[in-house]
Amino acid sequence: MIGTLQEKDLNSFAGYCIAYYSFLMEHHDNEEEIVFPAFTEPLGKDYFKELLHVHEIIMPALNRIRTISEATLKDVKQWDNETILKDLKDLRELLVPHFKIEEDTMKNNKLLEEKGFDEKKMAKVLHDIEKNNKKVKSNL
Ligand SMILES: [Fe+2]
Repeated sequence: MIGTLQEKDLNSFAGYCIAYYSFLMEHHDNEEEIVFPAFTEPLGKDYFKELLHVHEIIMPALNRIRTISEATLKDVKQWDNETILKDLKDLRELLVPHFKIEEDTMKNNKLLEEKGFDEKKMAKVLHDIEKNNKKVKSNL
């Protein structure tokens, strides 16, 4: 089992894994539909190549985690500890540096400002994310 996880905890942990999946999908949808297109003008299309590549290559692991977790909620015997553990470790390895690049880009106002991306444009990006998140949540 993962860490101190016990069979009695599998339903809760499977629910957590589904929430993790949903969070990452929403996060990546916001980036791909709102943030990256807005930042493409100041930073250039190539800046996002590797970030988009990571979004793509994590999908098989993310989908496996969701599928196994949903099956586990119906039947606890469907839990595949070895696969989930490997997928979570792989995701951690890929996503920690990925989030660091994204955070550094968002925080680097100087670079964005030098390229003409001012506070007004950033406020619009944040507003559009907020609007999209409300739309997603109303569909849950
Ligand atoms: Fe991302």
